[in-house]
Amino acid sequence: MSDREKLLNDVKRSVAAYCEAFHDFGFKPNDPIVRLHEPTFGAEEINAAVEVLLSTRVTMGPKVKSFEREFADKFGFRHGVMNNSGSSANLLAIAALSNIKTRGHLRPGDEVIVPALSWSTTIAPLIQYGLVPVIVDIDPVTLNIDPNEIERAIGPKTRGVMLVHVYGNVCDMAAITDICRRHELVLIEDCCEALDAWYDGRPVGKFGSIGTFSFYFSHHMTTLEGGICVTDDLELAEMMRILRAHGWLREVEKPEPYLAENGDVDPRFLFVNLGYNLRATELQGVFGSVQLPKLRSYVDARRANTAGFQQSLSRWSDLIDFQQETPGARSSCFGFPITLKDSAPFTTADLSRHLNAAKIETRPIICGNVALQPVMKLYEHRVVGDLKHSTRVMRRGMSFANHQAVDGAARDYVCGEISKFMITRGLG
Ligand SMILES: Cc1ncc(COP(=O)(O)O)c(C=O)c1O
Repeated sequence: MSDREKLLNDVKRSVAAYCEAFHDFGFKPNDPIVRLHEPTFGAEEINAAVEVLLSTRVTMGPKVKSFEREFADKFGFRHGVMNNSGSSANLLAIAALSNIKTRGHLRPGDEVIVPALSWSTTIAPLIQYGLVPVIVDIDPVTLNIDPNEIERAIGPKTRGVMLVHVYGNVCDMAAITDICRRHELVLIEDCCEALDAWYDGRPVGKFGSIGTFSFYFSHHMTTLEGGICVTDDLELAEMMRILRAHGWLREVEKPEPYLAENGDVDPRFLFVNLGYNLRATELQGVFGSVQLPKLRSYVDARRANTAGFQQSLSRWSDLIDFQQETPGARSSCFGFPITLKDSAPFTTADLSRHLNAAKIETRPIICGNVALQPVMKLYEHRVVGDLKHSTRVMRRGMSFANHQAVDGAARDYVCGEISKFMITRGLG
């Protein structure tokens, strides 16, 4: 073994020993804490990243490329374009679909239908590209965009639908793909909460032109920060590769046509379009490769928690609504969202206060009804209907942890605290 290998092994052993000694994120009945998120990574990922750092080859390169291939192959996408966040993935998707070189591209003033219950950066790229978000309501049972509301919102300027698979629950893809086909609408799937969610045997991200995923720390698997765009369309993939990095040609699969036209420019510095720098690093790439094989076990844990919570909390089902899995779908259960019925004589603030005092973290569901967020006052958009279900989720909805480190004991603790809360209010 070389000196280099020996030193590297020493470093790795130390990292493993450190993690073994200090990284215990499991639930402890004697010191109960249920955080919204716990890390999905440990010594294996940290050591892979340390090795990349020690190599000094850190900017986007072969590790990112390998991860893109592994991710795309795992789910059966033709192309994966990794970038530095789910928000960047949404930006890149809309940038590619709006680019003047893209066939039938979206144009300023075109309308794109989005669910009211979504995330800020689901909608921001539309506005940034001069598109007009048309905000429609959700189905209160699945919490996903209501296909009937999509149909109702379609007007002469409608060109696309950008949906969100809320908390990993897949939208009604049969109905939505049918609507998009009939009205010739571009479909973009924001799958940032729905890694490894499936519908009718197909993974999310596979139903439209582009799907986007997030690998943020709190998601099903992580690359620290990170995201990926997936598509089966080579032209869109190439466009995203160009826009991701400076507008240059370096990462495209088939540069030949550009090279033939621009023989007098150094191909390493051939700028063929506008661009950003949304690249992921090699650390993120290698993190992804180590995390990906573990993804299914994390999702299974979240699914088991969902089933467990639903079963235990069903005794309160006259007061609390649970998100229901879409028929034909396999949700990847991102968090455990609940909505208080009108009959519940308490607020989410009351329940959160009780749970937070018991060291159980809670949060609102995504950004609630996005049309009610102050940002939307600044920019042109269209609202269809009263958005009452999304507003209700904003006012009466909340969620708590449902991640891979939550186990039966943690669930019993959370459900026990909810029972205590109900009993103190004479509801037990
Ligand atoms: C639906 C949705 N889209 C986009 C994002 C943005 O992802 P990121 O935090 O990686 O930028 C999130 C964040 O969780 C999200 O929930």
